[in-house]
Amino acid sequence: MYYQMITPITGFSKLKKEEKIDWLLKTYLQDSENSEKVLKQYWNENDAVQQLHEEFTENTLSNFYLPFGIAPNFLINGKLMAIPMTTEESSVIAAASKAAKFWQTRGGFKVEVQNTIKNGQVHFIYNGDHEKLNQFFKASKSAFFDAVSSITKNMRKRGGGVLEIELLDKTDLVDDYFQLHCTFETKDSMGANFINSCLEKFADTLKEEAAKFQDFNVEEKQVEVIMSILSNFVPECLVKVEVSCPVSELYDDNHISHDAFADNFLTAIKIAEVEPYRAVTHNKGIMNGIDAVVLATGNDFRAVEAGIHAYACKDGSYSSLTHASVENGIFKFWMEIPLALGTVGGLTNLHPLVKVALEILQKPSARELMEIVAVVGLAQNFAAVKSLVTNGIQQGHMKMHLMNILNSQNATPGEKEELLHYFKKHTVTHSSVAEQLERIRN
Ligand code: MEV
Repeated sequence: MYYQMITPITGFSKLKKEEKIDWLLKTYLQDSENSEKVLKQYWNENDAVQQLHEEFTENTLSNFYLPFGIAPNFLINGKLMAIPMTTEESSVIAAASKAAKFWQTRGGFKVEVQNTIKNGQVHFIYNGDHEKLNQFFKASKSAFFDAVSSITKNMRKRGGGVLEIELLDKTDLVDDYFQLHCTFETKDSMGANFINSCLEKFADTLKEEAAKFQDFNVEEKQVEVIMSILSNFVPECLVKVEVSCPVSELYDDNHISHDAFADNFLTAIKIAEVEPYRAVTHNKGIMNGIDAVVLATGNDFRAVEAGIHAYACKDGSYSSLTHASVENGIFKFWMEIPLALGTVGGLTNLHPLVKVALEILQKPSARELMEIVAVVGLAQNFAAVKSLVTNGIQQGHMKMHLMNILNSQNATPGEKEELLHYFKKHTVTHSSVAEQLERIRN
C-alpha cells in the first residue's frame, strides 16, 4: 500500500474534467498511465452522449458500464414480453429466462397492482395542548391543499395529486413529536420531486397558519418543523404476482419426483418465512431480478430496495417475500411487494438506453412497470429455489461464471474455445480452470 501526505483540495467541483483526472492521477494513482487510459477509454466517442452522462451527476470522470441484457419469453397476463435487465452478476439473466420459459407453457404470470398510494411526512415538534393542535389542524386543513394548488395543477390534470393529509400524534415515540402524514397519487411518475415539493410547502404552511391561529398561546404558535421528506416505505403501493400449475407439471428428472420437488420447494419457502438468515439471501435472490429491471428502466433501485426490505419486516421480523402452497394438487407460488416506480420524468426521459428499454417493454405505464418488475422478482426466486432444492446453484452458476474466470486468467480466444468445450462435461471451479489452462499452456 502506497501512502503519502495528502492535502485537502478546495474548489474541486469547479475544475475541468481533465484537471480533475490530473489531480487524481497525481494524488492517488501514482501518475499511472494505465489508470488514465482506462478512465478515458470509457468516454463515449459521441460528445453529446458523453456530456449527457456527465451531467447526470457531479464530478464525473468517466462512465461505468454494466451489461444490458434481455430475458425473453415472459408471459405476463397473457402478453408475451422480452425484459431488459441490467446486471453484472452471471447467471441472473439466464435464470430469469429459464423460469420465464418454464412458466410460459404453464399459464404464465398473473399479476395485479393492488394500489398506488405514495406518502411523505412533515415531522414537527409542538409542546402545547394536544386538543388545541387538533382544532388548529381541522380549521386550517384546507389551507394546506390551497398552498400546493399551483404545484399540483399538472398532476391533477393527469388524475393525481394530494390525496389526504392527516395529523398524527407520535409523542409516545419522541417527546412532543407530531407528523403531517400525507398521501399522494403520482400516476406515471415516481413522484419524488413532486412529493417533496408539496411537503416543503406544507411545512411552510404549518408554520404560517400556526403563527396566525388565535387559540394558540405564544409558545404554541412556534411549531418547530424538523424535516419534510417522502417515505420510501410504500406499503400502499403494492403489486401481487402469482404462478400456478398442477404438481404433476412441476420439475421432474431422474433424481426427484414432482411430489418430492413440490415438498422440498414448499419447505424451502417455509424456512425463508421463519428464519432471517435464510430470508435475507432468499430475498436477495428476488432483488437480483428486481434491481436489474429497475436499473434498466432508469428507476431508483435504492428506494426500491429500502422499501421492499422494510416490507419484508412488516409482521415484526424479517421474512420471505414469496410464499407457496399446494392445494388439491395445484402448486401455487406468489409474492406481494411494494414498488414506487416511474415511466416518465427522471432518467426515463434522458438516458438513451433507458428509452430503448421502455420501448422494448412497449412503453409501459408505471402500473404496468410495477407488474413487470414484480414478475421478474418472482421468476428469479423460482429459478433460485428450484436449483437450490435440486442440483444446487453452483453447477449452473459456475458454468455461467466460466467466462469471467477465463478472462481473469487472460485466456486467449483459442484457450477459451477449448475450455468452454471441455467444461461442458466437467465441473467448473477456479482451481479446475487454472489446472486446465496450465495443461494447455504447457
Ligand atoms: C445469488 O445471487 C442469489 C441466491 O443466493 C438466492 C437464493 O439463495 O435464493 C442464489
